[in-house]
Amino acid sequence: LEILLKGLRRLEYRGYDSAGVGIDSGNSKEWESNAKCIQLIKQRGKVKALDEEIHKQQDLDLDVEFDVHLGIAHTRWATHGVPSPVNSHPHRSDKSNEFIVIHNGIITNYKDLKKFLESKGYEFESDTDTESIAKLVKYMYDNRESDDISFPTLVERVIQQLEGAFALVFKSVHYPGEAVGTRRGSPLLMGVRSDHKLSTDHIPVLYRSSGKDKKSCSALPRTDQDTCLFPVDEKAVEYYFASDASAVIEHTNRVIFLEDDDVAAVMDGRLSIHRIKRTAGDYPARAIQTLQMELQQIMKGNYSSFMQKEIFEQPESVVNTMRGRVNFENNTVTLGGLKDHIKEIQRCRRLILIACGTSYHAGVATRQVLEELTELPVMVELASDFLDRNTPVFRDDVCFFISQSGETADTLMALRYCKERGALTVGITNTVGSSISRETDCGVHINAGPEIGVASTKAYTSQFVALVMFALLMCDDRISMQPRRREIIQGLRVLPDLIKDVLSLDQEIKILAEELYQQKSVLIMGRGYHYAACLEGALKIKEITYMHSEGILAGELKHGPLALVDKLMPVIMIIMRDHTYIKCQNALQQVVARQGRPIVICDKDDYETAKNSSRTIRVPHCVDCLQGILSVIPLQLLSFHLAVLRGYDVDCPRNLAKSVTVE
Ligand code: G6P
Repeated sequence: LEILLKGLRRLEYRGYDSAGVGIDSGNSKEWESNAKCIQLIKQRGKVKALDEEIHKQQDLDLDVEFDVHLGIAHTRWATHGVPSPVNSHPHRSDKSNEFIVIHNGIITNYKDLKKFLESKGYEFESDTDTESIAKLVKYMYDNRESDDISFPTLVERVIQQLEGAFALVFKSVHYPGEAVGTRRGSPLLMGVRSDHKLSTDHIPVLYRSSGKDKKSCSALPRTDQDTCLFPVDEKAVEYYFASDASAVIEHTNRVIFLEDDDVAAVMDGRLSIHRIKRTAGDYPARAIQTLQMELQQIMKGNYSSFMQKEIFEQPESVVNTMRGRVNFENNTVTLGGLKDHIKEIQRCRRLILIACGTSYHAGVATRQVLEELTELPVMVELASDFLDRNTPVFRDDVCFFISQSGETADTLMALRYCKERGALTVGITNTVGSSISRETDCGVHINAGPEIGVASTKAYTSQFVALVMFALLMCDDRISMQPRRREIIQGLRVLPDLIKDVLSLDQEIKILAEELYQQKSVLIMGRGYHYAACLEGALKIKEITYMHSEGILAGELKHGPLALVDKLMPVIMIIMRDHTYIKCQNALQQVVARQGRPIVICDKDDYETAKNSSRTIRVPHCVDCLQGILSVIPLQLLSFHLAVLRGYDVDCPRNLAKSVTVE
């Protein structure tokens, strides 16, 4: 139970409106041989509430010893049905908990399944799509053709009936000591922990429908004709299923990333991986990979929240993005993940950057430097809208998918859409082994380290740096571009120190937050390189403070937003000494003329701008195309302090989740 609860706490950033566990229970009289009874405990609210509920349970016998003790647990971000114990996972097949299941994703045909199962006499208790899976697995079991049907076979049958996206883990009283996990579209990995050296780091896949592929498993012992188990020797291994590695990293850094439609079964410390059939390009084994992630990276340390920690990590995280890639002595950039494709990219017709949320803003922020250094048309698209429009995509397009998690469903769908149309696909992600990093043709890992705070901060600045590095790489052999390249690369060299300078403004920004935190609304204006910082700053404020906030392109001010300006409306303006400076000064004058009292983020020594502002936040000067990193950090800090002053949980904003794996 402690392992499950800890794992849930680590995953809580992905959803936290309710949580639940299902475990082998010692309550049954039959427990002596093995657990034959499953106990479910579910609670509305955060994992803490579930923990309290568990410890309140009088009849939960925690002293019983098991040879194999197995449990599944889930923290929920509601899609179907309000947060409540009955809508929480695990869901069950029936009142005696014969089969239980946890699910991440959305089942789009659940209404049809439910209708069918109700017609067969199954009674539903929740409003969720997931419950239909729990009932369906029991239906398959009740209607099995022979008594010795295996658990993975049953699950394979279930997923053939499912439409939509899912990562699922099942457990059943009929299969004590066994858990079966599977995925399609939503992430699922397995942690592998062993005190002894494993004989191999590849788990063979068993294909049901091809005699030829079955042979790849023939060297391994089988308990029945459709099971081959790992490890083959006597020594059992401890296995974990999880949606992401942070839940298992304190037990092991060795993981297997499951592929869509893999069915992985763990039985008494042994694993088998099954698939119905082999698809083109599918490698017939799953590798056990070693992750670099450290436990300490997912701990808060001395900070009050993950978000605060991640904001303050930015001097190091941008270094990690550049490490081994930017050579500041001879002004070169190497991106190993692109080296086989860079020539093809240089020949393309246009670049399309596709993403959601903060990652989309990283595309907006770097569009100009990409256009400048690649001399290619660059489109920046929100994944959902890109798909809604059925946007034309061609074989000579290069499509970038920017995603911290690498799992955002809209971005992933857009990736598959572009692949189908023959475009070259490039991933910019922070998560090694994520769906987007695996499904793209090539890419760049931003190496910012795990980001836990729902409001993205360090991932944004690292995505920014990664895209600038890409732009630099694209023009490395263009003589005319060299002075500009050198200027930018030297800008990257000093960037970490400049970020430190900006972070030293924290107290000043806290005082500003004290003045603003009771306001209803904040407008943030800027243009050129800083428009993205306005959008991103406004998004941060919305996400964690629940104040209304809008990022406004200063060039559009007179076309509408100026009507909002008066002496009461808080206005933040970003005005930096670049090619838009004069135009920004005009916008400042327009705001002041309407009695607005703008707070201005500007260059450290810009006394001219300071004269017209009610307050300034002065940041160090950097090369124009990187300055957006320095203008966004004060807004990250401001949103953080506003949220704290308003009394909100910074890391778990209401209604949001870190990784949105549903469309
Ligand atoms: C969610 C998160 C945002 C994030 C967006 C895209 O909405 O709450 O913080 O920017 O998803 O996520 P991705 O992992 O694709 O960057």
